[in-house]
Amino acid sequence: MKSIMFVCLGNICRSPIAEGCAKKLAQENSLDIKIASSGTGSWHIGEQPCVNSIKVCKFHNVDITNLRASQITKRDLLEYDLLVALDDNNLNHLKNLGATNIVKLGDYGYNSEDVPDPYFFNGFEGFEKVFTMIDECVHNLFEY
Ligand code: 4NP
Repeated sequence: MKSIMFVCLGNICRSPIAEGCAKKLAQENSLDIKIASSGTGSWHIGEQPCVNSIKVCKFHNVDITNLRASQITKRDLLEYDLLVALDDNNLNHLKNLGATNIVKLGDYGYNSEDVPDPYFFNGFEGFEKVFTMIDECVHNLFEY
């Protein structure tokens, strides 16, 4: 396994958190893996992660301020060994694009649950829950 891309809808809330957690873990364990994230939608291309994702990551010593949103391309399907979808909609989108090398993050410790989309949450609390779920699943995925 040499490269992983995490995929959500907007690439400004959930998948940047997953990318940040995974990069930190790889760095701590001296793993040489290319790690990235993208969204299935195009609304936020070029934007920084959302304020609450940056905030919750900072609280857990994960810096995601340098990430910028991108939209998944067919080229990414070939370029990355593994695509990790954050929810079923993302998973189905990737399948429809023709990807076969896909897993769902919730398969790694959360009974295949979707990581809920915090973009539509009120306030910060939901981001803590989402961070905990993502961080735990990323650790389990790397262990696996
Ligand atoms: P994400 O959250 O998929 O976790 O980045 C979203 C961010 C923006 C939108 C949807 C989901 N949007 O529709 O703009």
